[in-house]
Amino acid sequence: MRFVTIVGARPQFVKLAPVSAALRAYHQEIIIHTGQHYDVNMSDVFFQELRIPKPDFHLGLGAGSHGEMTGKMTEAIEKMLISIKPDGVIVFGDTNSTLAGALAAVKIHIPVAHVEAGLRSYNKSMPEEINRILTDHISYRLYCPTETARKQAAAEGLVDGVEVSGDVMYDAILMVRNKLAERSRDLLQSLHVNSGEFALATIHRPVNTDDPAALKRIAAAFEQCGMPILFPAHPRARKFAAEYGVVWSRNVTIMDPVGYLDMLALEQSAHRILTDSGGVQKEAFLMQTPCVTLREDTEWPETLEGGWNVLTGNDTARILAALGRSEPVYMSKNPFGDGHAAEKIVKSLNFWSKSDWFSHK
Ligand code: UD1
Ligand code: UDP
Repeated sequence: MRFVTIVGARPQFVKLAPVSAALRAYHQEIIIHTGQHYDVNMSDVFFQELRIPKPDFHLGLGAGSHGEMTGKMTEAIEKMLISIKPDGVIVFGDTNSTLAGALAAVKIHIPVAHVEAGLRSYNKSMPEEINRILTDHISYRLYCPTETARKQAAAEGLVDGVEVSGDVMYDAILMVRNKLAERSRDLLQSLHVNSGEFALATIHRPVNTDDPAALKRIAAAFEQCGMPILFPAHPRARKFAAEYGVVWSRNVTIMDPVGYLDMLALEQSAHRILTDSGGVQKEAFLMQTPCVTLREDTEWPETLEGGWNVLTGNDTARILAALGRSEPVYMSKNPFGDGHAAEKIVKSLNFWSKSDWFSHK
């Protein structure tokens, strides 16, 4: 069968890597890159490091408001799908590229598989929550990373075509894990930090980056935390920090976004991780590095177990308290699967009927 995979933003390239590798063993894959993320270190580096085949089509649709971006992507993807005529479309996660891909496909009766289905933060002020809910409800197959996600989907009446596959981002980590130790040694040396003696930070959520007061509260926490902080800054954080005149203290090293291998190496060696990223929270858990999440909610509640992750919003005192908390409890069980999520997804895709979903609903 012929499947189109649609990606556009950094975390989706990571999710695509194991799925693309597994998919190509049985099916034809055509990759559409919407262009939502376009800098070399936000896009190309992931294709290189994870050996993802070059996208067949690049739509070049980065930047713009939500409506503009989603609308332009939907229009362009529809045109592509009409000419490619795939049996199905696979979308990943919760970005505007996810929603645009799913919407374009389903309206012209091409069934959609949603990888990373069923996640909920129950915070509808986040665009990702809207993208997830809508994508789940128009998908033919829902591949849930965890049992919690399956239950959440079921609570919304989503049962048919829903499976717990495990988490493809865990698969991705396993694809490169043996490269991390060497990477870490070289990288830490070049950054002049010792393993276990620094914190790693990432922020890109509008609630943190687009509000000057929030950014300043975060900068104050970074200043007072008492350890070096490596901060590979998302373009959004860098842009607003400059615009608002936020001054980072001397213990904070602002860096360009790093590649996937460097990021995992830093996550593994960090004493603490400070983030508002969905993927980084989960990677922190999988790397057994205690995490402080600068949000009031999470779509990955499993990470909160045993104290591995703590939600603090962007409040300076809460961030500092969470950084200083006692060591989390060892977790013997991994809620994110067995590292073979992509294979499970592809085995399930082997039973794919083009008309099933449209005739039943
Ligand atoms: C997007 C996703 C978010 C995801 C994040 C991952 C949506 C609504 N948001 O947020 O769910 O967690 O990606 O990183 O889909 N920019 C660059 N270079 C790039 C990419 C972006 O300079 O390569 C700048 C542009 O000014 C752009 C801004 O960053 O306008 C924001 O990019 P956008 O894709 O709209 O949202 P993100 O904050 O990256
Ligand atoms: N990541 C990376 N380099 C960075 C920051 C993040 O490789 O400088 C990776 C990270 O390891 C994870 C993914 O990007 O695999 C998470 O993406 P992001 O935080 O942008 O989005 P989210 O997961 O919040 O949607």
